[in-house]
Amino acid sequence: MQEILKQLEEKRGRARLGGGTKRVEAQHGKGKLTARERLEILFDEGSFEEWDMFVEHRSTEFGMDGQKVPGDGVVTGWGTVNGRLVFAFSQDFTVFGGSLSEAHAEKICKIMDQALEVGAPVVGLNDSGGARIQEGVASLAGYAEVFQRNVLASGVIPQISVIMGPCAGGAVYSPAMTDFIFMVKDSSYMFVTGPDVVKTVTHETVTQEELGGALTHTARSGVADLAFENDVEALMQTRRFIDFLPRSNKEKPPVRPTRDTADRIEPSLDTLIPADPAKPYDMAEVIAKLVDDGDFFEIGPNFARNIIVGFGRIEGSTVGIVANQPMVLAGCLDIDSSRKAARFVRFCDAFNIPIVTFVDVPGFLPGTAQEYGAIIKHGAKLLFAYAEATVPKVTVITRKAYGGAYDVMASKHLRGDLNYAWPTAEIAVMGPKGAVEIIFRADIGDPAKIAARTEEYRQRFANPFVAAARGFLDDVIMPSATRPRVARSLAMLREKKLTNPWKKHANVPL
Ligand code: HXC
Repeated sequence: MQEILKQLEEKRGRARLGGGTKRVEAQHGKGKLTARERLEILFDEGSFEEWDMFVEHRSTEFGMDGQKVPGDGVVTGWGTVNGRLVFAFSQDFTVFGGSLSEAHAEKICKIMDQALEVGAPVVGLNDSGGARIQEGVASLAGYAEVFQRNVLASGVIPQISVIMGPCAGGAVYSPAMTDFIFMVKDSSYMFVTGPDVVKTVTHETVTQEELGGALTHTARSGVADLAFENDVEALMQTRRFIDFLPRSNKEKPPVRPTRDTADRIEPSLDTLIPADPAKPYDMAEVIAKLVDDGDFFEIGPNFARNIIVGFGRIEGSTVGIVANQPMVLAGCLDIDSSRKAARFVRFCDAFNIPIVTFVDVPGFLPGTAQEYGAIIKHGAKLLFAYAEATVPKVTVITRKAYGGAYDVMASKHLRGDLNYAWPTAEIAVMGPKGAVEIIFRADIGDPAKIAARTEEYRQRFANPFVAAARGFLDDVIMPSATRPRVARSLAMLREKKLTNPWKKHANVPL
């Protein structure tokens, strides 16, 4: 008996060694933690239970039958994050570069299936060279099994991908189908094919960093949502992030008690909007003053900065916040900001998270770059997402709400539940200057006349009362009272029930 117990410990020890001391040292030398070290940080102390530690690959090609490492390059299992159930897989780059074999895929699929059955998030710690080349089609089949589960789990349980090393091929397509992607600066990369293949095919010389580093994907392509300084920060922030999310689409987000009272008045908001409508102000300040304890988890802060999206809490419950940012491109809607916000709105709607929208938008960004890039389709994504959403929707127009963008930004007409405006709101088809130049084109040569017409238009439309008179706004509120009014609205809407007509699925403009 003692001998058998000893054998078990030896087997476990062998599995824990992964690809061996040398490769572990190389991993540490790159500033990266090992697969198991990462899981220790992600989960509450001692809560992680590993599954399938003794699984081995079944490949015999290219001498693979002589190279077996128990666990086969991925650590899978479940544990708790701040006391709440979470499943995870963590790829081990020290074993065949974390590449995915048939057996490796089966391990990931097992935890995904279990997570779906019990309703709990899956976190993937990705550090993988993609499909294991020696296995050929068996590894491709393994990836497809993972992809299929990513899709079936989408909108049912939250899926979070943390990219923690060079990820290629299938190792980027699976994350691409999850809800959020976080990266680590200077040590994680995402590309369909690496710099060598790029050089051969397109003759471009590009570094891994330029092609698919954390800055490329969080500021340029928008593929990833956040970039962190190192493994530890990425994992600690993932823990913080999970606290905002419900376990599944059948549950409400967790409630975190706060001493920040719902009736908190913020007098500084009454002087935030500049007298000159062309002058910007920082929408981030409005958000910080709205949410409990100023705690806001921003998603995609460096991509499409003309719109802010992220999670906060009001009276302890998670809310999704979408807000035009007048500091960047005057807060207009363009291709990138529409895509960014549309995806966020759809996530909130799928997971029962109410949406609070702050509007200060001069319209859609005009120009050939936008039109050729299909702003019509991308803008429609945001319109579609808001119109489809059945979660509570509370909207506050702080200043401009012009043109189609007024309709898009959770207007009353798209089933906005409570639509408020600050007294500084301006709601019309377009701004005064543009409007007058079209409807009084004959007077364009006469600056005095144009100035008078512009002032007349401003008096008539640059206020919230025309919309309020039609009931398109439920009230015009003092900026300082925004938190109490939004909090009361969300409390009233807590048990809201609204369903869309039966369908297999909608045909979202893609
Ligand atoms: C088997 C692999 C591997 C793979 C890496 N390794 N990728 N083994 N299959 N896909 C092994 C290496 O042989 C090496 O083994 C060890 O992992 C570390 O790799 P290095 O190249 O030394 O590390 P590094 O220089 O950091 O480069 C990492 C890398 C590079 C950028 C990931 O290894 C690479 O380009 N790999 C191939 C990527 C790729 O094309 N994958 C297939 C994608 S197709 P030793 O024994 O020397 O330590 C795919 C299809 C899915 O995934 C379907 C998509 C829709």
